[in-house]
Amino acid sequence: MMQGKNIAIGITGGIAAYKACDLVSRLKQMGANVKVAMTQAATEFVTPLTLQSLSGNPVVTGMFDRPAQWEIEHIAMAKWADLFVVAPTTANLIGKLAAGIADDFLSTTLLATRAPIYLAPAMNTQMYTHPVVQANMQKLRELGVQFIEPVTGRLACGDVGPGKMADVDVILTTLENAFERVQDYLGRRVLITAGPTREAIDPVRYLSNHSSGKMGYALARAAVRRGAAVTLISGPVALEPPAGLEKLIRVESADEMYRAVIDHYQEQDFVIMAAAVADYKPKTLSGQKIKKTAEPFVIEFVKNIDILAELGKSKMQQKLIGFAAETQNLEEYARAKLLQKNLDLIVANDLTQEGAGFGVDTNIVKLIDRYGKIEDVPLMSKSDLGDFLLDKIKQL
Ligand code: CTP
Repeated sequence: MMQGKNIAIGITGGIAAYKACDLVSRLKQMGANVKVAMTQAATEFVTPLTLQSLSGNPVVTGMFDRPAQWEIEHIAMAKWADLFVVAPTTANLIGKLAAGIADDFLSTTLLATRAPIYLAPAMNTQMYTHPVVQANMQKLRELGVQFIEPVTGRLACGDVGPGKMADVDVILTTLENAFERVQDYLGRRVLITAGPTREAIDPVRYLSNHSSGKMGYALARAAVRRGAAVTLISGPVALEPPAGLEKLIRVESADEMYRAVIDHYQEQDFVIMAAAVADYKPKTLSGQKIKKTAEPFVIEFVKNIDILAELGKSKMQQKLIGFAAETQNLEEYARAKLLQKNLDLIVANDLTQEGAGFGVDTNIVKLIDRYGKIEDVPLMSKSDLGDFLLDKIKQL
């Protein structure tokens, strides 16, 4: 799978740089073409000569190196790469990329490339968990950069915690998966809903829920990257929509979401309802702001249409994927929803588990298919889970 692929490796200044030597060597053994760019700091940990010998190509370290054959080197490398990996990635590089700073060869090339970028962070736990680093990572994720998450372990500084670079084996598997997934959704039409809905009570108030839209947006981003024509129907969220969508439709209420979904249902191959649709709306919408009066204050609610159940009734070629967010009896409730809504797959979310569900960047889910097969999916970032779910959905 790696045979003949052009892989650009960036190395930044961390002790895990020595592992990059193994990574380069293994990629070469797998038949890939490898070119390496190192930051100045990286050259303090391993020598360019080592990586030149392992990769069989000149190693670029400075913006103004003069290669034997003159090209505008950072643009040449940016275009040459089928995939870009930075291992290890320091907090500094993450920060620079998130801010669009290009002050050396590696950061300039990363800005110039349109190849998929994979970053394998390695740093001290305190740095890794620092809110500014986490915010930078989140921003980059939203822009489509992939992270190969570090693991918890004993760090070179003696601290124990997350920040240790992922094993070379894990990095290689991620890259192999990336190539396998490249454009595997080409020609497929995917409709994804995301975020909460808002059910207006009066001109200033609404009923809603804590959905952030992160799971749906991660799915949309992964589906676009893999070649699908993606229609994203989104409730109000604070996220940057992925580039390359076929269509983005912003809605507020469940009724609006329903109409948008129905308008685009017929031509889809897959419909993934990741939105947290409000089950109820106020029976009457007050045209004027409701003034405070006596207690108790009562609002009467009526049921919203169940979008997914409606889709299930008129299913043709479409595969339907639902989510079930539960706080108890996860399997039982999820299975009931799968049957009742005539779904092909349901992604069941246990909201009581730490690292799962609303607002957070990770998720822990169970998958249940039409035949009752259950698969436990371990904790992973929503971005990785997006790809994982698309791998499963493809097989439906
Ligand atoms: N859903 C929908 N329309 C609704 C409510 C839910 O399409 N009016 C979809 C959700 O997008 C999700 C699935 O149905 O994919 C299950 O949603 P969930 O809120 O977990 O279940 P409900 O069917 O609403 O049941 P309950 O609230 O009783 O758990």
